[in-house]
Amino acid sequence: METVKKKILVVDDNQEFVGLIRKILERKDFNVSIALDGKTAIEKALSDVPELVLLDLKLPDIPGEEVLKRIKEIDKDIAVIVITGYGGEQVAVEMMRKGAIDFLSKPIEHELLLSSIKNALEIREAQIEDKGFERYPTLERFFPFLAHEVRNPLHAISGALAIIQRRSDLKDDLLAQSIKIINEEVQHLNEFVQECLNFVRPPNIVRFNGVEIREVISVVMNLISHMLESESKKIKVIMEMEPHLPKVYANYEEIKQVFLNIVKNAFESMPEGGEFTIKTCAKSDSSKHIEINFIDNGIGVKKENLDKLFNPFFTTKLRGTGLGLAVCRRIIVERHHGKIYIESEEKKGTVVRVELPTGHRLGD
Ligand SMILES: Nc1ncnc2c1ncn2[C@@H]1O[C@H](COP(=O)(O)OP(=O)(O)O)[C@@H](O)[C@H]1O
Ligand SMILES: [Mg+2]
Repeated sequence: METVKKKILVVDDNQEFVGLIRKILERKDFNVSIALDGKTAIEKALSDVPELVLLDLKLPDIPGEEVLKRIKEIDKDIAVIVITGYGGEQVAVEMMRKGAIDFLSKPIEHELLLSSIKNALEIREAQIEDKGFERYPTLERFFPFLAHEVRNPLHAISGALAIIQRRSDLKDDLLAQSIKIINEEVQHLNEFVQECLNFVRPPNIVRFNGVEIREVISVVMNLISHMLESESKKIKVIMEMEPHLPKVYANYEEIKQVFLNIVKNAFESMPEGGEFTIKTCAKSDSSKHIEINFIDNGIGVKKENLDKLFNPFFTTKLRGTGLGLAVCRRIIVERHHGKIYIESEEKKGTVVRVELPTGHRLGD
């Protein structure tokens, strides 16, 4: 069976070294091309995209760092192994932060070279397969840009609409209806953009305080009654709160965001109305923590979807982002060392349980 040879571009101005590397790699059945300077390297990478680049950082024309950047711009899937002279480890580590996959110091042992190439190609394959993982860095740059480009016109539309509203004869039903639709759509887009931003916003490390969970819940319930006004009217809310719940050491805004996302999902799952319970309690068995249970009797989740709920972009809603629960998990698990679970049965309802550690760091 014929397999396609993997292309490796070797970038180094030392002809002797390059010749040696070529021999080693061709013996291993790689398709090798050579560039003796940065400019040629970029041209070659552009005209025939390689799977892997061996890149010497000391080049006669362009700094190796710049070549790395340009190569990654051509195709971020290209695996780059940086080659440094003796003592260049510090720089190499910096290069790995900028996207290089590995580094080798001269003089290079054959075995080490080959194993490094093998590893790099494997990592590359894994990253290409795992597209979800791949996409985030680009999104982090894209969402704020999107937010800016979308929000400003939205503000202008809202403002202009307010003027139209004031000056129009709202007894005209069709006109009143149309204005209402524009308002709702503007609000929807605003929320959509906000959810995208919440997903990529860098965490705010500073503000961790003693947070009263009861207070957060009451703020959130108030917020949701405005956000989902018509649903709220049809939903019976039951509070079962333990009276002396200890405070948690947390970031207030982030916890509020989490609860809001969860309650919003619950309300959205009961378009015809239903019952929504928030139950809190303190546990002090193996680890001290508090539990907050959000229980709805809405549409529930299909069995086959249960393990996808926290995946970014997973949504069953016509106009969902699928980012709400991904944000929740990041905030609860990564930022607060807590846990979040979902149990659900289709057509019966859903329980979302959040556990937050208490006691430590508060000192009281
Ligand atoms: N309380 C709930 N009841 C039923 N389904 C839910 C509930 N909470 C979350 N889900 C499911 O999880 C999916 C992902 O939720 P989320 O990450 O908040 O994104 P979105 O709300 O934008 O769809 C939802 O589309 C829905 O299918
Ligand atoms: Mg949601």
